[in-house]
Amino acid sequence: EAGLKTAPPFELIVLPTVDSTNAYLRRLVTQRTLSKPVVVIADTQTAGYGRSGRQFYSPRQTGLYLSIALPVDPNQPLDAGLLTTGTAVAVAKALRRLFAVDIQLKWVNDVLVNQRKVVGILSEGVTNLETRHVSTVIVGIGINLSTTAFPPELTHKAGALLTSPSTITRNRVASELLETFFAGYPMYQTGAFLPEYRRLSMVIGQQVALKSGQQTFTGKVLDIDAHGALVVALANGEQRHFSSGEIIKVNL
Ligand code: BTN
Repeated sequence: EAGLKTAPPFELIVLPTVDSTNAYLRRLVTQRTLSKPVVVIADTQTAGYGRSGRQFYSPRQTGLYLSIALPVDPNQPLDAGLLTTGTAVAVAKALRRLFAVDIQLKWVNDVLVNQRKVVGILSEGVTNLETRHVSTVIVGIGINLSTTAFPPELTHKAGALLTSPSTITRNRVASELLETFFAGYPMYQTGAFLPEYRRLSMVIGQQVALKSGQQTFTGKVLDIDAHGALVVALANGEQRHFSSGEIIKVNL
């Protein structure tokens, strides 16, 4: 029987250049209601950004810069912590399959290879002004494929997946990533991927310093909870679940 395979479950937009693929989708969702996810891939970003207002270095040709806008069901509150950690697992799986590398996750969703960050993920909620609910979530993923010359502040932290010439193209990485991401979609609100997240986590059992809000905390990471939050035994004996924050030091 001749026929077409099912169309991809998303709309795809490819741009030669953009300020930021996350910002692009933010603008798009204020203009129209999404009936299905929209994916934007850009060759380069002039104002790519990361967590805590940091820039995300996005040179042409050596990286993959992609964002996914996901419509949120208004009747079911979204567990953002699970979506974020679930995305990290999807990215890890896709990269492991393609590059046969050992991946480690640094909470919440930095992806590391050989102790260096090769992927940054940034999820943002867009709130509908009338209903005041999050109507769309934008998940931005920046992958360093072969960038080796970094701005000075990143030299000791960032790394690349490819250190020698490879036949793996950027399009191949994008398609593997999107396939893995959408295949895992049903899991992102159930947390079925959490055991895998915990296995890949480099912080469980470690002493860390964590910035959350204006405060810095130190303690030992005990676990990642059922919502993707970091469970820390603080120095004062208190046990706390952090649903947001940034680990600034591991292994004090
Ligand atoms: C971080 O490590 O702090 C998150 C970095 C996220 C970077 C990606 S690249 C594609 C998308 N567009 C952006 O401006 N940021 C995300």
